[in-house]
Amino acid sequence: MSETNWTTSITKTAAGELRVRGYAITDMIARLSFAQTVFLILKGQLPTEAEARMMEGLLVSSIDHGITPPSNLAARTVLSGGNSLNAAVAAGILTIGDSHGGAIEQCARILQEAVVAGEDAATLVRRLKAAGKRMPGYGHRIHARDPRSNALLELADQCGFTGPHIRLAAALMEELERGTDKKLPLNVDGAIAAVISEMGFDWRLGKGFFIIARTPGLVAHVFEEWTTQKPMRKLGPLGGEYAGPADREIP
Ligand SMILES: CC(C)(COP(=O)(O)OP(=O)(O)OC[C@H]1O[C@@H](n2cnc3c(N)ncnc32)[C@H](O)[C@@H]1OP(=O)(O)O)[C@@H](O)C(=O)NCCC(=O)NCCS
Repeated sequence: MSETNWTTSITKTAAGELRVRGYAITDMIARLSFAQTVFLILKGQLPTEAEARMMEGLLVSSIDHGITPPSNLAARTVLSGGNSLNAAVAAGILTIGDSHGGAIEQCARILQEAVVAGEDAATLVRRLKAAGKRMPGYGHRIHARDPRSNALLELADQCGFTGPHIRLAAALMEELERGTDKKLPLNVDGAIAAVISEMGFDWRLGKGFFIIARTPGLVAHVFEEWTTQKPMRKLGPLGGEYAGPADREIP
């Protein structure tokens, strides 16, 4: 890359013309779905029918999870403070981290590296436990079994994507739950991680999948807050318990 002239292999822009990965956007508007277009821009090539169907499922699976996740709470709180839609949605996106949505990245990395190294589920879980680490993509605050994961894995099966990453992801759940009553389901982040790994996506795109899928949900929540609630309404935690020092005087 020259120091003065940036290059990109994503989109060619000229007066009156836009080509994404070589395809004219004017043709894409009529002929490609949003999921096909997301696949194209991330992978650089048009998806097969099975890849397009799977991509639709991946994007639908994480569109929203109600009002309680950190991203929706942050987005609504920032809007309620008197800020714009874009600031509120950006605040929601900023909460996406290793414990919320972002687990896709680290889970996909672990699955991809384990498959390359030929590491099995039992060895992997032993290694994580010895390091005192949690397995990203497993466990859920609400679901004992995450319904989205099953639906995604069924779709992956129908689309012909079941392979070593998905098999390892399923074996890991059994291994994590072995000898304990604790439910550690493969959550939607883990299922997405396994499927995108099977589809050949780099693990570093993991958080990107969640951001692309969740942004419409965030916009809907921010719009609802804006149009149905008064600014600075009482936001949770309601009351808020004080746990600091007793009342005292400055000596
Ligand atoms: C999602 C998550 C925060 C939900 O947590 P939770 O249901 O409130 O469970 P807790 O954090 O109270 O943990 C309960 C127990 O399960 C264990 N546990 C929870 N998730 C675990 C995981 N992914 N791997 C290994 N152990 C896990 C904890 O170590 C804890 O064990 P302990 O009782 O022996 O101390 C948690 O499962 C997690 O951190 N998962 C990894 C990150 C992730 O996948 N996030 C995406 C969520 S959609």
